[in-house]
Amino acid sequence: MCGIFGCVLKNGEVASTIHSSLKRLEYRGYDSVGEATLHEGKLFIKKDVGKIDEVHATHDLDNLPGKIGLGHTRWATHGAPTKVNAHPHTDCEEQIAVVHNGIIENFAELKKELEDRGHFFRSKTDTEVIAHLVEEKMREGSALKAAVAEAVKRLEGSYAVAVVSVKEPDKIVCARKESPLTLGVGENGVYCASDIPAFLLYTNKVVIVNDGELVVLREDGCELSKIADLSLIRREPKVIDWTPEMAEKQGYPHFMLKEIMEQPLTLRNTLRLQEHYLELMTTFLDRASEVFLVACGTSHHACLAATYMFSKLAFHITHPVIASEFVEQYGKSVNIDSTILAVSQSGETADTLASVESARQRAATILGLTNTIGSTLTRVSRVYIGQQSGPEIGVAATKTFTSQLSVLSQLAIYLAKKRGKISQEEIDVLEEKVLKIPDMVETILKTQQEKIKQLAKKYKNHTAFFFLGRGISYATALEGRLKLMEIAYVPAIAFPAGESKHGPISLVEQGFPVVFICARDDTRKTLAGNIMEMKARGATILAICEEDDTEIKRLADDYVEVPAGIPEVLSPIPYVVPLQLFAYYMALERGCDPDMPRNLAKSVTVK
Ligand code: AGP
Repeated sequence: MCGIFGCVLKNGEVASTIHSSLKRLEYRGYDSVGEATLHEGKLFIKKDVGKIDEVHATHDLDNLPGKIGLGHTRWATHGAPTKVNAHPHTDCEEQIAVVHNGIIENFAELKKELEDRGHFFRSKTDTEVIAHLVEEKMREGSALKAAVAEAVKRLEGSYAVAVVSVKEPDKIVCARKESPLTLGVGENGVYCASDIPAFLLYTNKVVIVNDGELVVLREDGCELSKIADLSLIRREPKVIDWTPEMAEKQGYPHFMLKEIMEQPLTLRNTLRLQEHYLELMTTFLDRASEVFLVACGTSHHACLAATYMFSKLAFHITHPVIASEFVEQYGKSVNIDSTILAVSQSGETADTLASVESARQRAATILGLTNTIGSTLTRVSRVYIGQQSGPEIGVAATKTFTSQLSVLSQLAIYLAKKRGKISQEEIDVLEEKVLKIPDMVETILKTQQEKIKQLAKKYKNHTAFFFLGRGISYATALEGRLKLMEIAYVPAIAFPAGESKHGPISLVEQGFPVVFICARDDTRKTLAGNIMEMKARGATILAICEEDDTEIKRLADDYVEVPAGIPEVLSPIPYVVPLQLFAYYMALERGCDPDMPRNLAKSVTVK
């Protein structure tokens, strides 16, 4: 997610402060950077694609005049990472500058409306509409504060935005809805930022801005108001005792735990994808004679789950393929009627890109699902969807997995609608549940975290595990297994529970831990039988089940609860969260670093 920063100094030039503060937002991940300052009634802007140090080397980010300014690190969601799409964005007259973090869902309509009224747009971003909306209000005579309030009222989606204008060169106006925004009150200035690390070097006096609030920053302080009616809000700064390193993790001990806890927010982001791209991708999937879902590791598990979704909702057969085997397994049979949906959070995984390249050479259609706009996968795809999870720092994929599942489930519902394979009533129920999933994940994180921590203490010395599920839960089991192996270094096997009798059950002896994913679906009855089989051989059963599932709770030695009423095809999202936490706490109990597991890289760019 982008990083925004703003600062009004009492003394001195602001540019170097903006530059060093953006450096402390680098951990958020970005592809371009920019600054704007106000001086003697003029706006000064420097921005470009690349890392801060690279852009500084070419543009000197410390050399802009003035003691008021904005800064931005961009993580592209709308519009590729280019210089013109980098922030700050301006109005037609380049008198207003805006930096923004978030997603404006209705930007296309607003842009058309503004262009029809003669506004001239420079970039492909959603953000630029804000500068032109503020321009309009100020042209109608509004002061900057009121103009920003009126402008953001037109926005649908999420935003943390900061605005300056040459017409009112003594202030910054910022506003927030869902995206994070914090204020810092220091001796020599006031600061606004997406995150506390940005200004922690200058002050630890912090004011958190809530949704629906607007702030005017002047050198003498901050004034908070309600966006709705500009009524004033009194809020005293709080002193926080964080080190900059701690602040990057927002107080969490590890990025992995922070990213697990971010999932309600990142899942809500996946519900804001542009229908146009979902429909376009659905059209390609619908008309394909064969569809291969190609990926590696965790992304492959999302693909496997998707094959159940596409089949159950749209009666559409798709083939989940581990990318490193794709060319061997299907290379020669791919042709012009084949469609490849490549799934990769980094968009740079070599095996996945090699599969795509071999298919492209055989004229197949390439579709992409990624978390990294501007990545190679986005450049080789006919259509791609950016899943908007924000940068994932922990090597173990967590929030990007649940976001992949959310996007794939939405595609399956679109395909079901297109093909009319299930009733409108079933579709309505599913769509209503998809909207509820972020809240369900929030409930699990709130109610089960401590319990899972205790379970990790109990299971930490086990030297091997089984992860079992049936149907779509087999994909969840595979992901739970991978998390435990990659960060706690515990050997584990996952397989469809029905396979136990065909070999693996020979490993089971007294106390052997078996994790069962017990979604309430058509496999429920047989799965209960599989649990009995394992218990009969002395296994210790750890079950993930619905809160009111008394039968499974009775059968299990330990259990973790998820909310009731989760449709089968959506179950991997809430059911994997306890497994992510279990692996995390097992890693801590076993003295492993959850963020930088040995022998692993976040993006595997070699075959
Ligand atoms: C998952 O925790 C691992 N980091 C790894 O398996 C990962 O999912 C795999 O390398 C694929 O990465 P991608 O989604 O960036 O292509």
